[in-house]
Amino acid sequence: MTDDEVYAAYAPLAPDWLRVNFVSSADGAATLEGLSGPLSGAEDKRVFKVLRARCDVLVAGSGTVLAEGYGPLVLSPERMAWRRAQGLPEVPVMAIVSRTLSRLSPRAGIFAEAPRRPIVICPRDLPEARIEPLREVADIIETGVGTVNLKGAMGVLRERGMGQILCEGGPRVFGELIAEDQVDELDLTLSPLLAGAGAVRIAEGRETAEARRLELRHVIEAGGNLILRYVRGSTDE
Ligand SMILES: NC(=O)c1ccc[n+]([C@@H]2O[C@H](COP(=O)([O-])OP(=O)(O)OC[C@H]3O[C@@H](n4cnc5c(N)ncnc54)[C@H](OP(=O)(O)O)[C@@H]3O)[C@@H](O)[C@H]2O)c1
Repeated sequence: MTDDEVYAAYAPLAPDWLRVNFVSSADGAATLEGLSGPLSGAEDKRVFKVLRARCDVLVAGSGTVLAEGYGPLVLSPERMAWRRAQGLPEVPVMAIVSRTLSRLSPRAGIFAEAPRRPIVICPRDLPEARIEPLREVADIIETGVGTVNLKGAMGVLRERGMGQILCEGGPRVFGELIAEDQVDELDLTLSPLLAGAGAVRIAEGRETAEARRLELRHVIEAGGNLILRYVRGSTDE
């Protein structure tokens, strides 16, 4: 596929749209040796980059940001040029979800070297002393008591003009988004690997009372990977 075809294959279906992108082994593991990287290949990375280029805001939990070593959110010159041609700012905004803020340092590259001011999403009852250092380097969305109200936080992002929301996980943030019925799309690469027992699934944490129906929009086979695009299904049987 050409790059234009990949962009077209992931055109959002509505102005306000939340998609989640994951890679998993064929037997359902979200990590190998604690990371997603060993599950991923060039074909999956290409979709990953196109999805980043297509979003207004990239949301990730602190667990993912730290485990995967997220730095400042930067795109290649080609992807920035594509965004300019669409009338978008050159890079999306990075938004980090944390319940405690205990592991986020304002000196980390994701804040200190960010091309656009990031957002931190946290509960509104945290001690001000814990939030204050991050106010220097990020906009803070405080929502929920004792935990983040992710539905509320997604609403705030939309109010601020960020309708295209991409979430790169991780599993606990995804579990929360499913429980809150916030997911419009799941982009899932199935990697031709058996990871065996022990690894986490792509959704963890909070349980959901009722399974959410999805509709399969496309399957791309590339390098032995199945690159799946699911969107929110109709509630009618
Ligand atoms: N296969 C893939 O595509 C993929 C994608 C992403 C991540 N991963 C893997 O997933 C692992 C990380 O998993 P994870 O579940 O810890 O990551 P996560 O969902 O990104 O982050 C979890 C953190 O988010 C915050 N959080 C979680 N639930 C919350 C809630 N309801 N309200 C408020 N904050 C909440 C907490 O932050 P605080 O601790 O800061 O309070 C929590 O520790 C890593 O090994 C990573 O490599 C795999």
